[in-house]
Amino acid sequence: MHPGCTIWFTGLSGSGKTTSSRIVAKELKKMGLPVEVLDGDVIRKNLSKGLGFSKEDRDTNIRRIGFVAEKLTRYGVYVCVAAISPYRETRNEVKESIGRFVEVHCHASLDVLEQRDVKGLYKLAREGKIQHFTGVSDPYEEPEAPDAVVRSDGSETPEQSARKILDIMRRKGYFRQVSEKSPSAEIMIS
Ligand code: ADX
Repeated sequence: MHPGCTIWFTGLSGSGKTTSSRIVAKELKKMGLPVEVLDGDVIRKNLSKGLGFSKEDRDTNIRRIGFVAEKLTRYGVYVCVAAISPYRETRNEVKESIGRFVEVHCHASLDVLEQRDVKGLYKLAREGKIQHFTGVSDPYEEPEAPDAVVRSDGSETPEQSARKILDIMRRKGYFRQVSEKSPSAEIMIS
């Protein structure tokens, strides 16, 4: 029986959440574990379709993602969540409800992100064509004590970041398998 866990990637737009979460998901799949990726951009096209970027809508989005992640985690899935999730209190709320949780802060300075501007959204935000854009005209509350910080400013490769996260999961005991016959007996699977 796999106990599952949620690996939650938070950070500004373009900070590497999607890239890191996909690499971690790939590594977990290689280990033969059941994996699901919940990505903010994708979720907003289905589960959270119609929601905007007010605090209320962002919180609703994060609570919905947290709700699904909690169910999946409970049934043994390793869930990689990639969402800006700008509000500390809401992140802490989903963390509490999920329990087996790794918080990863994807970090690069705003300068670096704006220069990179992969989706061209920072430019639009600066021109006032997108309102309430996180980091420019809307808040981002950094995690106070994340389990891991992923540096996406070029100082580490996405693969190094993924290894760091997997090490933390190992240290937290999230790869220990619980025997169905004897739930108290834990077997290391890595
Ligand atoms: S969250 O704040 O509710 O966690 P989420 O991760 O789902 O955000 O979606 C963020 C994505 O929506 C960004 O990567 C970007 O592509 C797009 N987006 C559109 N408008 C905004 C905005 N005002 N602020 C941030 N992201 C925006």
